Amino acid sequence: MSDQIGVTGLAVMGANLARNLARHGHQVVLHNRSRGRTDALVEQHGSEGDFVPTGSVEEFVGALQRPRKIIIMVQAGPATDAVIDEIAPLLDEGDVLMDGGNALFTDTIRRTEALTARGLHFVGTGISGGEEGALNGPSIMPGGSKEAYELVGPLLESIAAVVDGEPCCTHVGASGAGHFVKMVHNGIEYADMQLIAEAYDLLRQGLELTPAEIGDVFAGWNEGDLESYLIEITAQVLRHTDAESGGPFVDIVLDEAEQKGTGRWTVQSALDLGVPVSGIAEAVFARALSGHREQRQAAQKVLPGPDRQWDEQVADKDAFIESVRQALYASKVVAYAQGFDQITQGADHHGWDIDRAALAKIWRGGCIIRARFLDRISQVFTDEPDVTTLLTNDYFRGAVSEGQESWRQVVAGAARHGVPVPGFASALAYYDGLRAERLPAALIQGLRDLFGAHTYRRTDREGSFHTMWGEDGREVQTG
Ligand code: 6PG
Repeated sequence: MSDQIGVTGLAVMGANLARNLARHGHQVVLHNRSRGRTDALVEQHGSEGDFVPTGSVEEFVGALQRPRKIIIMVQAGPATDAVIDEIAPLLDEGDVLMDGGNALFTDTIRRTEALTARGLHFVGTGISGGEEGALNGPSIMPGGSKEAYELVGPLLESIAAVVDGEPCCTHVGASGAGHFVKMVHNGIEYADMQLIAEAYDLLRQGLELTPAEIGDVFAGWNEGDLESYLIEITAQVLRHTDAESGGPFVDIVLDEAEQKGTGRWTVQSALDLGVPVSGIAEAVFARALSGHREQRQAAQKVLPGPDRQWDEQVADKDAFIESVRQALYASKVVAYAQGFDQITQGADHHGWDIDRAALAKIWRGGCIIRARFLDRISQVFTDEPDVTTLLTNDYFRGAVSEGQESWRQVVAGAARHGVPVPGFASALAYYDGLRAERLPAALIQGLRDLFGAHTYRRTDREGSFHTMWGEDGREVQTG
């Protein structure tokens, strides 16, 4: 069914999304702050479909039939507010304004409230897959009211990636739910990439393989449980040769990982929710550490550590590669389990009805973290909607425990040889923390009670208690 939509903001993501919409038979009314981009798009790709170029915002809004459907594709933050402020006064009740940028979900909540009060629909939608995905089929995570989704859902579904005949687009939940899950998607993306980078580093340091050889290892891994877009492109990047130096591309890239902020937002939100997303946090901090060049250079000169020779592993190269693979898979399962925990808690906190099985399904295609095992994650949430952590599900428990010995060896070996593996190590610590019968948190409670009379609960009876530490050590019940 063909429809009509307005796209404002025609930088690469917006232009590609507009082309994708046009290619699917929709009439696309175009607008950009400066007219040049609009004209360039029509000139270069006008033959791909039905484009209606417009100049002013008034002309743009005027060219759309009611209820108008508009998607904003500009930079997240103040630029998005500026566009909304310009367009919203020109709209009529029942029109739908969508924001396809990487907005902070709390901004989306604020905008939804303000626009709903004016009788407009606002759909904050996560769109993943980069420029390529926008053009050929992204994963789309729209939030907003059911009514709004009825108006724009079919249109969005028509341009999304398709896996097993199903579009990678689903109504995530009300208000900021779409941008919330997109944020967590990006957090998981950070964790996943950090783990991949650690696996590469271990193979490089432990076996002294060349980047191209490690690229081959990743290509092999992409045939199994680890099959995913990120593993696939890791092979591609590692096999790439720098034209100028003739050496491995990865060796001429400055080793300082940048970030636009969505990973940091995920951790900030997780801190507020009290959800331990240690894999994502370690990934954000590892990027931060990589950027502290001065500290790194100062430390490099003086901080002692083990010599990085990894002789005992070289003896059994294949076994080492397999151990790293298992450690990577186990750590990855932990990172995804933590990300889904954040979604569960976030949904609870904000009162969003997020179908995690449907969400895992729409992440199977189009998006950056698309991976074979998302099928399994989806299945878990279908079969066990009350599961408390993905890790207790039979399949994931089996996968992790099967690789457990290797995981421990790899983390211990990395520590012994001075190779930083914050992602692998924190994932293992999380796993052990979850499974521990007793945690040293009891001691922390005792300390808090001693210095601040913060009280504690007992294992043997209800209530809260305080010990008179400064007096006779007597215990009193406080609640
Ligand atoms: C996506 C990506 C995208 C993100 C980039 C860069 O889903 O298509 O998540 O939204 O902007 O991956 O993110 P960083 O610059 O923060 O690494």
